[in-house]
Amino acid sequence: MAEVAVSLGERSYSITIEPGLLSRVGDVLAATVRQKRLAVVTQKRVWQMWGNELQSSLSRSGLECSVIQTPNGESAKSLTWVRHLYSEFARAGIDRSSTVAAFGGGAVGDLAGFAAASWLRGVDFVQIPTTLLAQVDASVGGKVGVNLPIGKNLVGAFWQPRAVLIDSNVLETLPKRDRRSGLAEVIKYGIILDKEFFDYVKSHRGKLLSREPSAIVEAIKRSCELKAYVVTNDERESGLRAILNYGHTIGHAVEAAGKYSGIKHGEAVSIGMVQASRLSVMVGMLSDSECQEIRSVLASFGLPVEVPAELDRDTMLKSIALDKKSKGGRVRFVLARGIGQVELSEAVTPEMVASVIHESQEVS
Ligand SMILES: NC(=O)c1ccc[n+]([C@@H]2O[C@H](COP(=O)([O-])OP(=O)(O)OC[C@H]3O[C@@H](n4cnc5c(N)ncnc54)[C@H](O)[C@@H]3O)[C@@H](O)[C@H]2O)c1
Ligand SMILES: [Zn+2]
Repeated sequence: MAEVAVSLGERSYSITIEPGLLSRVGDVLAATVRQKRLAVVTQKRVWQMWGNELQSSLSRSGLECSVIQTPNGESAKSLTWVRHLYSEFARAGIDRSSTVAAFGGGAVGDLAGFAAASWLRGVDFVQIPTTLLAQVDASVGGKVGVNLPIGKNLVGAFWQPRAVLIDSNVLETLPKRDRRSGLAEVIKYGIILDKEFFDYVKSHRGKLLSREPSAIVEAIKRSCELKAYVVTNDERESGLRAILNYGHTIGHAVEAAGKYSGIKHGEAVSIGMVQASRLSVMVGMLSDSECQEIRSVLASFGLPVEVPAELDRDTMLKSIALDKKSKGGRVRFVLARGIGQVELSEAVTPEMVASVIHESQEVS
């Protein structure tokens, strides 16, 4: 078992990581919650696979839970679903001392967290994330929210969970592609903050891909520690938190341009990190061999590293120019200064971005 503390004064909480934790989640929660009434907001597929285990653990500990199932994936992250949750909370008698638990991937964590932040001006919230992406990223840090038809994550709040409970065994049922996609974010933590961790991930590739329990727990734990470090130093995203966006500027552009070809978030981030590394080489912050190493480690995990040739370059360049980090025509990029350290830089010109994307599409 591993514990990671997130120190945010009275909003402090701990992250517990343990294979098989689901079977004793009831006991852990019984000791955390203020009152035994709980609303569990989950995804259909997750509930089908792991619902019995969670429900029996909660009942054994005397917790009374109402289960609200939402569609799998991004479509549940909408105001329509927020409204639906409010009706269900009312029906279930969720009052100011009750708790809302999110049980599923990042989409349901964001939705349930936002509903918890706004219901009765805020009720207690816990995260039981079930995808690798949610375990190493989305469930930690308190950013919650939903999408609008005009854009992603436009409505939201900062609402820290009371606890994050991670059972690495639930990853057994997660499709391989989603696991790899989550590993891209794990590798990102190494690149932005911790060379030793990058080397750990690199040397434990086989074990991580085959979900060897101790390697997976270590990877989740270190990722959560690094995210917790960033969040505790910048809870409301006024500075440091931007480094978590390494690879995300071009990654988001790839996701936007590839809307219909089904590129996963982590895959787009992997492609984006390689391009950001090339930009770092161009401005003299990263050596060629370090850039090669980043590319080959990502590729060795079966992640894509080049911008797919079929994506429309102008769409991507427009999306980068519109990026919220854009300042006076230039986009502020997170660039690597060696592996294990990144900086925000304004040295990247639109021409550099265009040429990096062009070259990447040529070799893809
Ligand atoms: N709040 C944050 O800080 C933050 C950070 C990163 C990402 N996000 C958000 O997270 C979302 C993406 O999260 P995600 O990748 O977890 O996707 P997701 O929540 O859409 O889940 C992906 C799919 O996996 C299924 N699933 C979940 N756990 C499973 C399991 N153990 N076995 C089998 N299937 C399982 C789900 O039902 C769903 O179909 C996006 O909406 C993104 O904006 C938020
Ligand atoms: Zn990401």
